Amino acid sequence: MAIQYKLAPSILAANFAGLGKDIKEATRAGAEYVHIDVMDGVFVPNLSVGIPVIEGIRECTNHFFDVHLMVQDPIRLIDKFIFAGADGITVHLESCENVLETIDRIKKAGLKAGVSIRPETDVAEVEKILEHVSMVLVMSVNPGYGGQNFMEDSIKKIEKVRAYIDRHGLDLDVEVDGGIYLSNVERVLDAGANVIVAGTAVFHGNITNNVEMFLKIFRKYK
Ligand code: DX5
Ligand code: ZN
Repeated sequence: MAIQYKLAPSILAANFAGLGKDIKEATRAGAEYVHIDVMDGVFVPNLSVGIPVIEGIRECTNHFFDVHLMVQDPIRLIDKFIFAGADGITVHLESCENVLETIDRIKKAGLKAGVSIRPETDVAEVEKILEHVSMVLVMSVNPGYGGQNFMEDSIKKIEKVRAYIDRHGLDLDVEVDGGIYLSNVERVLDAGANVIVAGTAVFHGNITNNVEMFLKIFRKYK
């Protein structure tokens, strides 16, 4: 099956005084996903947005809400995020007591389930889960903050996860998140990523132009 390339702007870098406006601009310019980072101050040393914000922004677009849960024991909260309007929910392997049970809960509600690994977690630890999910998210920064530098080791991890998917004939997306800019996106695409999260690189400066530049690069891969 042909790989679909998608841009997932991370709203963490948007202007929260005009969040709906920024999201509309990014989606109208062609971004397919809206990436929503949820942090609990426990799994990661920061807090961000939660359920009421997702409910609120659900009114401004029908685009796919790609919810990235950086929270401890996410199974407690899955139903609430489903109700708020998530289309896909990604949980961290490291945050779940029973990751398969958590993934099952997401899938049973008809949503797409994803699993993510932090930079220090080896790809081998997530391989057995891949047949159960629609997406694997390789973090290319330590989760918790936007605007960090891309970690070079992530390239090898993306290559490794894509090779595993191909070797086993699986069909799932490989998302990469953290420190992605126009200057390095081709390297992660070359490595095998196909869903690209970008916060700063989309929402700082001219949003429409930024999205269009990413999509122009994606077209070279189609
Ligand atoms: C980090 C978040 C990222 C972050 C990406 O914990 O998961 O989605 O917002 O931001 P940039 O693209 O600015 O590195
Ligand atoms: Zn994220």
